[in-house]
Amino acid sequence: MSHWVHLVKGPSMVSLEGIGHVFGKDVSNSNVYVHAGKILPFEISSNCNIKIESGESWLAHNSSAGTSIWSDIIQKIFYEKVQKTILIVGSSDAGKSSLAVYIVNEALKNGFTHCCVVDGDIGQGDLAPPNAVGGAVITKQITDLRDIDGEFFEFVGSTSPPGFEHIIINAIKSILKQFSPFCSICIINTDGYILNNGIDYKVRVAQELRPDLVVCLGEVSLFNTFRAKFGLSPILFGKPPSNVIKSRIDRSQRRLNQFQRYMLEEKDSRSNIISKSLNEVKFVFKGKLYPTAWTTRYGSLHLMNNRNSIQIMRRKLANMFIAVGSDRRNILGFGVILNVSRSTVHIKSDVDNFNKIYLSNSRINE
Ligand SMILES: Nc1ncnc2c1ncn2[C@@H]1O[C@H](COP(=O)(O)OP(=O)(O)OP(=O)(O)O)[C@@H](O)[C@H]1O
Ligand SMILES: [Mg+2]
Repeated sequence: MSHWVHLVKGPSMVSLEGIGHVFGKDVSNSNVYVHAGKILPFEISSNCNIKIESGESWLAHNSSAGTSIWSDIIQKIFYEKVQKTILIVGSSDAGKSSLAVYIVNEALKNGFTHCCVVDGDIGQGDLAPPNAVGGAVITKQITDLRDIDGEFFEFVGSTSPPGFEHIIINAIKSILKQFSPFCSICIINTDGYILNNGIDYKVRVAQELRPDLVVCLGEVSLFNTFRAKFGLSPILFGKPPSNVIKSRIDRSQRRLNQFQRYMLEEKDSRSNIISKSLNEVKFVFKGKLYPTAWTTRYGSLHLMNNRNSIQIMRRKLANMFIAVGSDRRNILGFGVILNVSRSTVHIKSDVDNFNKIYLSNSRINE
């Protein structure tokens, strides 16, 4: 392999004739699609012929991009003592999702057959729509986590962590519990907020999950701060790739794509409208279950359990993004509340056999 990495920014199609890798995935003699806004590093052998159709591309030294910047992390995970649960923390765009992909690809190459990734980023994660924590078991090498469909979800109901920290941590724990028995490597990805209290929240995640290894990606100062606050697991510093600034437009587009992807599954783009009487459903709001619900004269939704009673205004309900579930399986799918009128809730969703509705603070305007 050469010292230079071909960085390609999508949308683009890259064809290789010869040996090449993307985040450790063998892409020799094949075509790789690079999604819009995404940058993929192609590491190719000197006699490999690379053809890049459209998109932008440039060369970077392997000390600033590609997988060489993370070789010591891989060494630590696979060649010393195998680390089963790995928590990745770091600033936005520091390469957290990409490092997760690289670890998965290396694990599969090293004979681990089942690797799970739990995505704890409720704002714009890879494996779940905004508001939710998702997880998937990965059995084939990949170039982008977004090519994987989340298999198991927990709903948080917010797109930013403040006030929801314990709900997110419990959601991550619950997904880990599902996958951990049959996975040999579990990677937990987190969101990129590390300013203000973001770092303390990540420390709390680490304290509660007690991973075998924490990788801090980004500035050295982040690593030092994290290390000073958390000493229960080994912590490694990981270099971020240079020159991969994502524009704001890429970000909001990504978030929208993730909403759409999980609401309107490919099979049918016109989801059904489902009406449920309020006495056949329970609600979950901010992690609490409310078995009793009714509407007030002004169209607000009143929720009650044996400890709390709350009211949600009518204008907050219309177009609210929700998850739906049952007693047997927490989350069956996602949807949108159209309206609540006279003891009936009208929902647009692909799923209809639910009896639990998880509310959020996101509204979707079509
Ligand atoms: N080692 C690398 N070499 C080259 N490009 C990289 C590398 N790591 C990541 N990138 C590219 O940089 C961009 C940001 O990386 P990534 O999405 O992995 O970061 P992140 O920390 O998960 O960001 P976010 O906080 O938005 O989830 C992506 O386009 C990605 O493909
Ligand atoms: Mg990410």
